[in-house]
Amino acid sequence: MSTVTVTGFKQANQALALADLKQSLYDEGKVLMDSVLVTLHGEEHRRRRLLEMRIFKKDFFNYYEKEVLPPVVERTLAKFRGQGRADLMDFGRRSMLDLTADFAGIDRPSNSDAERDELVGIIHGLGAAATLGQYQGDREAVREAVRRTLRQFDERFFTPSAARRQALIDRFRAGEIGEAELPRDILTILLRNEDGLDLPRDMILRETGFYYLAGAHTSVHSLTHAMHEMFEWVRDHPEDAERIRADPLFVQRCVHESLRLHPSSPIAQRRPTCPVHLPSGEDVTPDDTVVVDLYRANRQVDTFGPDAAVFNPHRTLPPNLPPYGVTFGVGIHTCLGRNLAAGDVARPGTDPEKHQYGTITLIARALIANGARPDPEDPPQREPNIAREAWARYPVLLG
Ligand code: HEM
Repeated sequence: MSTVTVTGFKQANQALALADLKQSLYDEGKVLMDSVLVTLHGEEHRRRRLLEMRIFKKDFFNYYEKEVLPPVVERTLAKFRGQGRADLMDFGRRSMLDLTADFAGIDRPSNSDAERDELVGIIHGLGAAATLGQYQGDREAVREAVRRTLRQFDERFFTPSAARRQALIDRFRAGEIGEAELPRDILTILLRNEDGLDLPRDMILRETGFYYLAGAHTSVHSLTHAMHEMFEWVRDHPEDAERIRADPLFVQRCVHESLRLHPSSPIAQRRPTCPVHLPSGEDVTPDDTVVVDLYRANRQVDTFGPDAAVFNPHRTLPPNLPPYGVTFGVGIHTCLGRNLAAGDVARPGTDPEKHQYGTITLIARALIANGARPDPEDPPQREPNIAREAWARYPVLLG
């Protein structure tokens, strides 16, 4: 029983594409993660993923970036503009939590700060399930806390959100309303279940909670990392300051470069379903664990150049190489929210007016347009107690 770690960029891509390696990062966190998309394998995974991909119908990204995102960002900015300052982590949580809740299908009927604070607590509580494999203390106590959080999520948010959607679906089926009047979110897709999959209520509850978790945490950290990298870049390269203010494609380039350096899931983990010869050369069996080190794969000098470990938005890459590396995973479990968070990759001739930028770039642009800059009196602080790099707080001035 051994652990094999894959660090090469090409080998990471190849390993993640192997059908005989099964998800194992969340084995300890079944209390939330049992039967959610990212833990399924084979045919079951394929059918669930196909069902959920229905959310990306024609025009979805245009609808999301033009209709869902702007009011959320404006409301969050309005809260902080008057104070002339914000903490980027808090700002990110308030905007990304709302966006991801809309994508997952969680209503916030009172639209109040108290309700948002409750959801921040729920995300935090559910998040413990995803990292249980790395937790050294009493895991059963954590599981019990996750169960309590899941009950709170169910009663306060899931049950009313599902009931409202089910009523709309019933009216749609009765021909009383058109499809355009149904919410465009994962919960509606699961309740409609057009493919007739076996989806018990408990599973839909966990899947909705998982989506909320998968989308929110990752994007909040990625936004703060990207803002930090841009602040540092402008400090050292004042000639690019105007470009960051005025060129949205350049800001997206900065976001992608930052995503490469700071993948919010630094590793993927798999277990072989049979003896497997890995592309990196090792032979592994079902007793072994395969760790794919996304963080190190993204910093390989033979792929990204001799300065692979530093932020450089002018880096030139071959056209087939994703600028964010393997940050969103590869193969069957490739992040389903990738386009939502990071947008399309720009190509020569991309029209900035029609381009799809992704939530992180659009929120970063709104912050830049509002004069966001580090607060010299209150320096940012890193999270001290977790292995991966993360910001605990990042105070900025606005205006
Ligand atoms: C910067 C933001 C994000 C990052 C870095 C990220 C990263 C990842 C990674 C690495 C995986 C693959 C895990 C594996 O192979 O074991 C993944 C899967 C997934 N992500 Fe994301 N994610 C982000 C945002 C989102 C958002 C916004 C959503 C949804 C709204 C989302 C939903 C999912 C789902 C549903 C899966 C599972 C896909 C499957 O198993 O088929 N993610 N993500």
